[in-house]
Amino acid sequence: MFIKKNKSLLTTNFFGNKKSKQVWMSHADQVSKLPKNFKVVASSTNSKFAIVENKIKKYYGVQFHPEVTHTENGKKLINNFIFLICKIKRNWSSRDQKNQLIKDVRKQVGINKVICALSGGVDSSVVAQLLNKAIGKKLYCIFVNTGLLRKNEEVQVVKTFKKRLKMNLIYVNAEREFLKKLKNVTEPEKKRKIIGNLFIKIFERYAKKIKNVKFLAQGTLYPDLIESKSVTGSQTSKIKSHHNVGGLPKKMNLKLVEPLKFLFKDEVRKLGLELNLNKEIISRHPFPGPGLAIRMPGIITNEKIKILKEADYYFIQALKNHGLYHKIWQAYAALLPVKTVGVMGDNRTYEYLCLLRAITSEDGMTADYYEFKKSFMQSISNKIVNSIRGINRVVYDVTSKPPSTIELE
Ligand code: XMP
Repeated sequence: MFIKKNKSLLTTNFFGNKKSKQVWMSHADQVSKLPKNFKVVASSTNSKFAIVENKIKKYYGVQFHPEVTHTENGKKLINNFIFLICKIKRNWSSRDQKNQLIKDVRKQVGINKVICALSGGVDSSVVAQLLNKAIGKKLYCIFVNTGLLRKNEEVQVVKTFKKRLKMNLIYVNAEREFLKKLKNVTEPEKKRKIIGNLFIKIFERYAKKIKNVKFLAQGTLYPDLIESKSVTGSQTSKIKSHHNVGGLPKKMNLKLVEPLKFLFKDEVRKLGLELNLNKEIISRHPFPGPGLAIRMPGIITNEKIKILKEADYYFIQALKNHGLYHKIWQAYAALLPVKTVGVMGDNRTYEYLCLLRAITSEDGMTADYYEFKKSFMQSISNKIVNSIRGINRVVYDVTSKPPSTIELE
């Protein structure tokens, strides 16, 4: 809890008519001495100098995270800093941003051809459409069916991008190649590296078939960069090698085009709408590059993939049917490497455990689990267990991020 001490432009309309507010302080450090010519604006029991200011020099300091959702009204502080203190004009628009990104892509690419790693998810779809607008037929989209995609995803991608949007789309069925490389691999980071490397190898293989391809376009977002490099730069605090970043081999023969690398998911969605992409594509839940491989701890087999695709499909359909899909930031089914005993009719069963995860979030950096009604949980559990051979128990993940991550691996 955090208490108002003195008036400041920074806290204009922040406290409202209260004297205190909830803010998110998750670090172990604190400022112990106030610098010369600074005054305290707000403090908490643990941090005497939670907000400080030097009004003449317009220096402000906060010892908490105003940008996270757990800080009540935190955006107001950022707003006040930008508009009341720095006096920045409100002249940003998503149309200008789109035009600028198109210009940047044209400048970077020149007369060369680009291949785009199209997965059909929001990020790569927005990248593809952005490049389509920027360089037209110099763009070649390559869609790799890793065998680790959601049910029917490959059919939908071909229909949307090749048939409807008339892009150059090359469909590569690499299901067998991925499965072979992943045989008996259980370590999460190893799975990610194998998938990332094979992905790039396949791109390079197809790039060689098209003359003058110099660039590879990817839908890397800002959170992917932060979490792969670690915020402090230290390798030890790295969380996961995100497929778009960590999986790249050192000796890659293609240069990268990553127009979304400074954007968060909500900004990418706005950009997609600005680019006239279909709402269904734009509002789709995120799907990780390594796909179902990281939703299946332990070894990956054809049988497990088949079971998982079905479970995920039923879960997502149920969310849509109950009008819940758009209230949830991301949802999926996972298959745990555990078999448990159950009873079906008069028979004993010994089958896999299916885990369901559904979270709310703003940008994937932090997340809370979604609280379903009991009736929904009962019906989806029944549907999965009764319809899919191979699952006899369903559990729901109620951890937030942090301490968990959104994906299991
Ligand atoms: P985590 O599990 O790190 O996930 O909390 C945060 C968000 O990132 C997605 N994710 C990935 N996306 N390549 C991607 O393109 C990846 O390797 C990858 N790993 C996780 C995840 O689905 C969630 O939306």
